[in-house]
Order: sequence, then C-alpha cells, then structure tokens
Amino acid sequence: MQMKPFEGTILVAGATGRTGQWIVRSLQERNLDYRLFVRSGTKAIELFGPEVIDRLVIGSIENDREVDAAVSNCSGVISAIGSYVTDPQAPSPSVIDREGLIRLATAARRHGVKKFVVVSSLAVTKPEHPLNKYGQVLTMKLEGENAVRELYSEPGFSYTILRPGGLLDGPPLQHTLQFDTGDRITGAIDRSDVAEVAVLSLTNPKAHNLTFELIRTNDAPQSSLEPFFDQL
Ligand SMILES: NC(=O)c1ccc[n+]([C@@H]2O[C@H](COP(=O)([O-])OP(=O)(O)OC[C@H]3O[C@@H](n4cnc5c(N)ncnc54)[C@H](OP(=O)(O)O)[C@@H]3O)[C@@H](O)[C@H]2O)c1
Repeated sequence: MQMKPFEGTILVAGATGRTGQWIVRSLQERNLDYRLFVRSGTKAIELFGPEVIDRLVIGSIENDREVDAAVSNCSGVISAIGSYVTDPQAPSPSVIDREGLIRLATAARRHGVKKFVVVSSLAVTKPEHPLNKYGQVLTMKLEGENAVRELYSEPGFSYTILRPGGLLDGPPLQHTLQFDTGDRITGAIDRSDVAEVAVLSLTNPKAHNLTFELIRTNDAPQSSLEPFFDQL
C-alpha cells in the first residue's frame, strides 16, 4: 500500500549518528522536508554536503533553548539520539536517554509537533539485562519512552517507539524483518533498515501510538519494508 507523503518539516535529532545518517538519506530520497538537530555543523556538512547548511540547528539535547529552537515549526520529529555508554567522559544515559528525550518530547508537544518517532532498544523492560550495568541505559530509555507515550497519546498527536535489536551496519532492504510487541524477541537489525522503518512510521497507520520491537530474519532483497507493518 502506498501511503500519503508526510506533510511538513521533520526534525531528525541525532542526525549525525550512525542510524541518524540513514534517516536523513531516507528523507532525502523521498523528497521530504527535513531539519537536522546536530551538535556539530562541521560533522553534518562532512556527511551530507554544504546543501544542508540551511537545514541545520546546532545544539545539544541537554539545552532547553536549543531544543526549543530545533522543534519550532516542525510537524514531525524522529529521534535517533543515544548516550555513549562506554565513554566515561560522555553524559550519562540518565542525562541523554531519559532527561534528554523527555526534554525533546516535551518541547515538541508544546510546539504542536504532531508525530514523534523514537529509536529506543529491545530489552528496555528487562532491568536485569547486562547492558543495564552501563548507567542503567535500558531503564533510562524505558523512562524516556514512558514520557513520550504519555505526552503523545492525546488526540491529534501520535507516537511510534521502535525497539531495534543489536545494530549492524549493512545496507538497507537486504533482509526480511520481524516486528513484535511485548519485548519478547531477541536479535539484530541493520541501522539502515531501522531508519527506513522510522520514516515509514511517520505515516503508516499501523504504527500510530505503538511501541514495537524489530529484528532482521532471512537474507532476501526487499523493494519496501512497508509490508512488515502487517505483522502488527
Ligand atoms: N548499539 C546497538 O546495538 C543498539 C541496539 C539497540 C538500540 N540502540 C539505540 O539506537 C539508537 C541509535 O544508535 P546508533 O548506534 O545509530 O547511534 P550512535 O551512532 O551512537 O549516535 C548517537 C547519536 O546521539 C547523538 N547525541 C549523543 N549525545 C547528544 C547530545 N548531548 N545532544 C545531541 N545529540 C547527542 C550523537 O551526536 P554526535 O553525532 O554529535 O556524536 C549521535 O548523533 C540509540 O538510541 C542507541 O542507544 C543501539
């Protein structure tokens, strides 16, 4: 099924991250209007070329004023931000994955952004998971998710929370995917496919106000990832 294109500007938070870069490419391929919230304009221009210069909002998810500027006049947000858990100098998961996401979602809601899509993670509901020894990263992500669900459940607004498995760096559309709910599955998936699913979630009605897990299954070229939404 061909969905109607998303109307309005989409903010990509974490656009210079490894999943974020694929999200930007996917939006460009679809000729959608986008804006990039990045910490480094130099990194963004290196990655996407000087043509993105007018689309950049420079700032940190830690700063209220910068987050406010980033979301204003947008209709959608896709966040692929995540803390660098193994870097002791980097801000902790509580600052980025919980407080940062809450700051972004609260500002977006206040500015009337209609659709909010988050790249979270499998296993966020499992406090005993070994990854949680890094600053409780999974629990922090769950608390961020909870705020998004609460803020975006009101009529007229919509959220989609994606919980991918372990992230890989292969090209898009090379695998069948499994979508599931309830945090029951384990596995891996390419960042490129997560990005594609994030962009499709802006408009696919099956993704409306839904949290779901996604992993890859068999090697098999795909022409679109839209049919996998029928599993939901
Ligand atoms: N690694 C895995 O196997 C795995 C599995 C499941 C889910 N996830 C989650 O999936 C998401 C995407 O992962 P990824 O590996 O593609 O991400 P990544 O390459 O590690 O990129 C993280 C992004 O977050 C941004 N960021 C970090 N702190 C920030 C701050 N204070 N203000 C603004 N931006 C900030 C980074 O900005 P800069 O570009 O400026 O550094 C970067 O764009 C993350 O939420 C991650 O936790 C990861």
